[in-house]
Amino acid sequence: MNFNNDSIAGSQTIIDPVDIRGIDHVRFIVGNARQSAYFYRNAFGFDVVAYAGLETKMREEAGYVLRQGDITFVLISPLRSSHPDYARLLKHGDGVKDVALEVENVSAAYEHCLTQGAISITPPTYLEDDQGVYEFASIQTYGDTIHSFVNRDRYHGIFSPGFKPIDPARYQTGTRKPAGLQEIDHVVGNVEEGKMNEWVQYYQKILGFSQLVSFDDQDISTEYSALMSKVVQNGTGRVKFPINEPAKGKRKSQIDEYLDFYGGPGVQHIALLTPDIITTVRSLRANDVSFLRVPKTYYDQLESRVGTIAEDIKTIAELGILVDRDEEGYMLQIFTKPVQDRPTLFFEIIQRHGSKSFGKGNFKALFEAIEREQALRGTL
Ligand code: FE2
Repeated sequence: MNFNNDSIAGSQTIIDPVDIRGIDHVRFIVGNARQSAYFYRNAFGFDVVAYAGLETKMREEAGYVLRQGDITFVLISPLRSSHPDYARLLKHGDGVKDVALEVENVSAAYEHCLTQGAISITPPTYLEDDQGVYEFASIQTYGDTIHSFVNRDRYHGIFSPGFKPIDPARYQTGTRKPAGLQEIDHVVGNVEEGKMNEWVQYYQKILGFSQLVSFDDQDISTEYSALMSKVVQNGTGRVKFPINEPAKGKRKSQIDEYLDFYGGPGVQHIALLTPDIITTVRSLRANDVSFLRVPKTYYDQLESRVGTIAEDIKTIAELGILVDRDEEGYMLQIFTKPVQDRPTLFFEIIQRHGSKSFGKGNFKALFEAIEREQALRGTL
């Protein structure tokens, strides 16, 4: 048990029923892991640290482990159509399968979730090699997405059994340009209309999360479309999962577009924290990462809206970075375009100066920018 008394304002003591240390890794199923690894390395600045595949006696799939700061991405591709994830690839395209959580005790986490009604994907499993024992178990969440509980306290290898350190000859040293990304700030799920509250309750019941904040269709609407969102987080506040659902509007919501092309609920975006968004975005832009653009007029009222900020407004405007302020401070954020041809998964780059918000003041400008992209795709 993890007794936290610093997670919520006031003196209330929160007891996390599942001892989550943080997000361990995000596991993607992709059509061509070798090429995706190249993209995340050369565009986003990740270091490719480990590989699993035919050469490491992994017969059914190929995998790459990528790391930047405390962020770990695992990219997996089935090697044959008989692989169980091959069907998911046909249905969803490239996307996130698993938001894996590092826990103190895998069996205890899994058993707790099952007694609260979670659906099991994999019971507690011990994978062993000459580097030790890697423990994990998995439960179902929205759509075909899962949460694995992971513990590698007794494992000393590079990632998990089957993975070997990447062959240094594979990548030329000095060719990777780290972008300064530090950790995962939040992971957002899109669910069907009318399902958001069910999933909020699911996280409350199964993992003991609490609801941090809620946005209704008045907060998140443009002339054409709307969505609703609620954010749940664990007791320490280290794990934050916003959940979106579409709301009725004149045109098709970006959430409907996602659900249509992903073939159901799934992870919409992953927000990556940087201590220096200007350097990070400069570097990502230089690597050809495509970002959403808000109109230049957004910056005309910026200073009167957010007050004085440490960053140079001209530079912020040049790079297309958005700013929002609340009682606790301010935050800077920018969103990439989808990272595959289906308009599904994208990334957010975020820097926080005290603010724990999600950029409510930017929603309108942002969603209008998304709608312009939707109009180009003929999906608005
Ligand atoms: Fe976000």
